[in-house]
Amino acid sequence: MTILDGKALSEQLIDSVKEKAEKLKPKLAVILVGENPASMAYVRNKKKACERSGIEYVEYNFSTSITQEEILKKIDELNKDETVNGLIVQLPLPDHIYVPDVIRAVTPEKDVDGFHAYNIGKMFLSPEFEDLPPATPLGIVKLLDHYNIPIQGKEVVVVGHSNIVGKPISMMMLNRNATVTTCHIYTKDLSAHTKRADILIVAVGKENLITADMVKDGVIVVDVGMNRNSKGKLCGDVDYPNVSKKASYITPVPGGVGPMTVAALILNTIRATERQRNI
Ligand code: GUN
Repeated sequence: MTILDGKALSEQLIDSVKEKAEKLKPKLAVILVGENPASMAYVRNKKKACERSGIEYVEYNFSTSITQEEILKKIDELNKDETVNGLIVQLPLPDHIYVPDVIRAVTPEKDVDGFHAYNIGKMFLSPEFEDLPPATPLGIVKLLDHYNIPIQGKEVVVVGHSNIVGKPISMMMLNRNATVTTCHIYTKDLSAHTKRADILIVAVGKENLITADMVKDGVIVVDVGMNRNSKGKLCGDVDYPNVSKKASYITPVPGGVGPMTVAALILNTIRATERQRNI
């Protein structure tokens, strides 16, 4: 069994853009609403990655009482600010804010999370147009590629159908000629699907959702889950101690997909800056 070391690859990728960052001097703006501990941890890691790669980082913090209008106004201001190259709004947002409106407001050229319909649409059409793909799916693809794991012709089973992971990673796997099954909360017999997987990608947010009896020998497991167990320890959606005994490759939590999302954000920020300057 080989551990897919997202932390090591993430550091390598972040270091690999230093030269470009020095020339381009890109700037990433992050909007954070409230004090959700997970969001604060993500944002802290994004800031650290910017500092490491030489990307300028600015953060705008708002309390949860902010109105949708005020957020949209800030986004509009940052869209127009020519010194800002990348712009992300950390999710989740408070219930009174309608996320699709916020995602739509970020100009596609600066949408380094790859959440805007324009960037999703380009990614949908084919791999050549994956300009600014969603950060977590891009991180997953980079991780599989780094370990020379072939995707073409493989049975890929995705568990979870969110807009930010499940749906886009399904499409990116299809773009790479995998046979893709997307499972979700209404899937009738989850293990009937997961047992067929050559590559199993799980993005649900439920501890121990995937147990050893649900996978075949040699499976490649990508665990996108980020949960706290009863002891307060970070864990994924996969029963790691037991599933890892059957897997040929597996991502740990923490240290797998999480750092790769951050690396992908850095790569997207460089790419967005190059596009804006016609490089
Ligand atoms: N919340 C969970 N993952 C992400 C992400 O990749 N980007 C943003 N903006 N929010 C998130």
